[in-house]
Amino acid sequence: MDCNEARDLFQAQSHVYKHIFNFVSSMSLKCAVQLGIPDVINSHGQAITLQELVTALQLHPAKSGYVQRLMRLMVHSGFFATKKVCKNQEEEAYDLTPSSRLLLKDKVPSLLPFALGMFDPAIATPWQFLGNWFRGNELTPFETAHGMGFWEYGDKNPEFNSVFNEAMASDSGMMNLVIKDCKPIFEGLTSLVDVGGGTGKVARILCEAFPSLNCTVLELPYVVANLPDSANLKFIAGDMFNAIPPADAILLKLTLHALNDEECLKVLKKCREAIPGNGQGKVIIIDIVINAEKDEHETTEAKLFFDMLMMVVVTGRERSEKEWEKLFLEAGFSKYKITPIFGLRSLIEVYP
Ligand SMILES: C[S@@+](CC[C@H](N)C(=O)[O-])C[C@H]1O[C@@H](n2cnc3c(N)ncnc32)[C@H](O)[C@@H]1O
Repeated sequence: MDCNEARDLFQAQSHVYKHIFNFVSSMSLKCAVQLGIPDVINSHGQAITLQELVTALQLHPAKSGYVQRLMRLMVHSGFFATKKVCKNQEEEAYDLTPSSRLLLKDKVPSLLPFALGMFDPAIATPWQFLGNWFRGNELTPFETAHGMGFWEYGDKNPEFNSVFNEAMASDSGMMNLVIKDCKPIFEGLTSLVDVGGGTGKVARILCEAFPSLNCTVLELPYVVANLPDSANLKFIAGDMFNAIPPADAILLKLTLHALNDEECLKVLKKCREAIPGNGQGKVIIIDIVINAEKDEHETTEAKLFFDMLMMVVVTGRERSEKEWEKLFLEAGFSKYKITPIFGLRSLIEVYP
């Protein structure tokens, strides 16, 4: 073997090891958010030294070397930055980055509930069953792990249900950042049904931005039990496969990516029946569109992670524009327009 071949193999080894240990990145992030490190740095008001961090976290001083190693990795993965500060002598200190700012507890927007939800053992455990699931006949690895489907599990485990709903609401909170750019999409509508709208975060954002819009959230009974209606926001407990109330527009945010193509078609057909047939109605989908040619490598990787997540916990999938278009045409729609407005997610207007 010449030295080029050996070098290539060592490079391949490095690649293999990085991917074997990718979970270290997730688990270290989980640890950092569980310890509340972003909030500690934020409360400190400036970059924090290692000793100050260990004291503020109320950890035993013997743990400071371990905290330093955790922080070294988190700096490497872009969650914190280091800078020099002058105390008695020049020292290294940790500061927030845009990513860790998104993980602060009381800041808006915050993705902390999303992180805590996705790190929940109920979602993490089914990954251990993925290989076996391919050989078995359960619908999802989630079912292999928990003996029931994801939505039934939420119904039977109220604590997980609320962690998951808060996770989704925190993801939806990001919509506030671009709602002003959405005027042409929602203005002029008088009624909208958010199908699978969770605890109503998106509907509330829409009601506030467009006060003449009447919103209804259609959700599984256990998700909306005890949620109070307000002036222009109503909750309906139901099943999207059975009936969708009529409205000018039907909204589905991340509802369709949790469904396989057959289920998706059923819901899309119901949506088509629910909107006016006079050309005034539309379906608005906020979801992932896979576009590996155009997207950056990291964006595609995140979208493919979501695709695997949809395979592991539910029966869904992420779709390319071609795959979305096929579903729209089969469901009886004639045209659509994609606006890539929510980072990883696009807004798709679909017309009869
Ligand atoms: C991935 S979550 C999206 C939640 C919300 N749209 C958001 O983005 O924050 C999918 C939602 O669909 C709801 N759902 C699942 N099956 C449903 C059904 N058969 N009828 C109505 N809602 C359903 C779930 O309870 C869940 O809140």
